[in-house]
Order: sequence, then structure tokens, then C-alpha cells
Amino acid sequence: MKASRKVGRIKPSAIRRMLELSAGLKDVVHLEHGEPNFATPEHVIAAAIEAMNEGCTHYTDISGTLELRQAIAEKLAKENGIDVDPQTEVTVTSGSQEAMLNAALGFLDRGDEALVIDPYYPAQFEDTLLAEAVPVKIPLNATNNYRLEMDALEREITRKTKMIWICNPSNPTGHVFSKRDLEILADVAERHDLIVFVDEIYEKIVYNGAKHISLASLPRMENRTITVNGFSKAYAMTGWRIGYMVAEKELSATLRTMHYYDTLCPNIISQKAALAALTGPQNCVDEMVAEYNRRRLLVAKQLGKLESVTYPVPEGAFYVFPNLAKLDKSDETLALDLLTKAKVVTVPGSGFGKAGEGHIRISYSSDYEQVEEGMKRKRYYKESRF
Ligand SMILES: Cc1ncc(COP(=O)(O)O)c(C=O)c1O
Repeated sequence: MKASRKVGRIKPSAIRRMLELSAGLKDVVHLEHGEPNFATPEHVIAAAIEAMNEGCTHYTDISGTLELRQAIAEKLAKENGIDVDPQTEVTVTSGSQEAMLNAALGFLDRGDEALVIDPYYPAQFEDTLLAEAVPVKIPLNATNNYRLEMDALEREITRKTKMIWICNPSNPTGHVFSKRDLEILADVAERHDLIVFVDEIYEKIVYNGAKHISLASLPRMENRTITVNGFSKAYAMTGWRIGYMVAEKELSATLRTMHYYDTLCPNIISQKAALAALTGPQNCVDEMVAEYNRRRLLVAKQLGKLESVTYPVPEGAFYVFPNLAKLDKSDETLALDLLTKAKVVTVPGSGFGKAGEGHIRISYSSDYEQVEEGMKRKRYYKESRF
């Protein structure tokens, strides 16, 4: 049977492809996936066990339990400067990934255009294609410290432009967008009446005093921003499949229509766990971020020894995105060589957009020893004048 035309248009994820290629290989170091190596904090697991024992094994409200939505609204007011009504403007999702498809199918029609800040998180691009809309890349450059430029955005706007996608802090670059950049985005969105989808899943994973700013906290942005977040990265809860999307009432109503048919409702046990994560002690997050920082510095130190590699040391997420364009190999060939010859799994940067060409993404979400071993194998890089 033939897949639909829509599915025929999308590409499999480069991350998944590298994982599959490395499956079954021995002595492999995994620096490709964004999978925290930490266990979910104990008090979160305890809350889930308690919930099950108390009979929390049924459907919940479609948009999630009110207690969790209230806790999310409180967190947004306190930490992000975003005021929302938990009844109508917060929706709990089965992981934040779900929110991207909801937004694409909910707001984009065939032929509409959506600007994608490039390098991008692949689902933003592919979900736009699934909606039969046109993703329009806005390339950012590391040499310019990934600054957003008003002209570059304005140049690509047409009558068909409906939405802008951004990930802050960025996967794959680890870049944290400045207030200046967000103000430019807000300005453009307001002038052209656009929706902005901002993925803030790495907001808590920032280093060196970097400050994450929520786009929806900027003046007049609350009515046109879809803010998405989740528990996977900050609380090491990838397997619990729990996240949330926040938007003004009418935007939320559309997102909820999609969400109902996608998932019916999020998992009740994960919702109890997420509530414990949000309302419980936060030192677990600080400890994980401190450890990520240790690995970040290790990767930076090792990459710093390689002459042909350039990159800004990232201030967020757990990725480094070095530029290897000085080499005479494509990022695809390089990632495959690294896999087969050095047994280090990375992701070719072109999997994150045209602006990612010539880069590889290195994740330091694996444990310190793995990261250290992966970086030691740079012996191979030297041999190939990496
Ligand atoms: C930027 C970004 N958004 C969303 C996701 C998916 O998160 P979740 O587990 O909440 O679906 C990931 C996972 O790697 C990610 O990197």
C-alpha cells in the first residue's frame, strides 16, 4: 500500500537514522540523542506510584487535570511572566512533540507559509509539510552569534505567511535568544499579524548566567504566541510523555480540537508525576544542570583543541553544533565516518536545516564518561584532519 502524498513529502529524522545505523554495533559512544542519562527524581516516581495505588487509572479532562493546569499557570506567572487562565489557556499534552503537529494542522492550510528559524528542530519543518504548507527557512549564522535580523525576516514575508516557528534555547545549536532578538520577532509578528510558535523545552537548561526570556511575556505577544514546554528534559522524564501548550483562549480552542483527536487526554499517571515535578523540590533540576555544565565545558575544551572546528560555546540545552565546513567532507559523510571508524554517533547538521550543513550535532546528555570517551576518540578526527 502506498503512503499518502503528505507522508511521502516528509523525511525521516536524521537522529533516528543515526540511532538505527548504530544499532547492534559494539563499543559505540552515543552522542546523538537528546536523552538525559539521569533517572527521573525519586519524589516524582513516588507520586506516580501513589497515584496508581489510589486508583488514578482513568481518563482525565481532555486538556489535563485542573490541578496540573493550575500548577502550570502558577509556574508561568512566577517564572516566565506569562499570565494565563488555566481553565481555557493551558492544555496538557502527551509530550511537547504533540503540540507541534496540533499547531501545524490547526493553523496552516495548503499553500500557507510558515517561517522556520534555521537551524531548526526537525518537527517544526516536517509538521509544516504535513499540513501541506510551505516552510520558509530563515538562516542564522554562528559567526553572527545566531542573531535574528529584521530584514531577513521581512524579506521572506508574503501575503501567505501565517506563522513563525522558533526553538529557544535552540536544539540543535544550544543558542539562547536575546531580548533584542525576541523583540525583533515580536515586532515582525505584530506588524504582519502572525502566530509565533515557541518551543521552550530547554528553558531550565541554561549556563553561565544566561537568561532565558519567554516570548509571550513581551508586550502584546500573549495573544499570538503558542508557548510549548514539557518535562522530558528538565526533569529527565522523556519516557513519561508529558508536556503542555499555552496560548490565548481562541488559539487554545483550536489546539484542543486537534489534541482531542490526537490523544483524547494525556496519561493520568504522568500528570500526577508532572505535578510533583513542578510543585516539589527543584534542587534536582539544579544538580542536573550543574552536571550538564561540567560536560559542556569538557566538550568545549576538547573541541577547542581542533584547529578546523569553529563554534560559539552554547549557553543552553545540551548540544554543541560545531562547524566543520573547513573539511572537504559533507556533514553526512563526516557523521558516517565518525560512526563507522571512531564508533561515535553524532547527527549530521543538515538534518536540522540548510544552515546546519557543514556542522554536526554533539549531545552531552549521555553520562560524563561516555562524553569523555567520545571526545577522546577525536584521535580519529585528527587523522582525517578534522
Ligand atoms: C526542541 C525539542 N522539542 C521537543 C522535543 C520533544 O519533547 P517531548 O519529549 O516533550 O515530546 C524535543 C526532544 O528532543 C526537543 O529537542
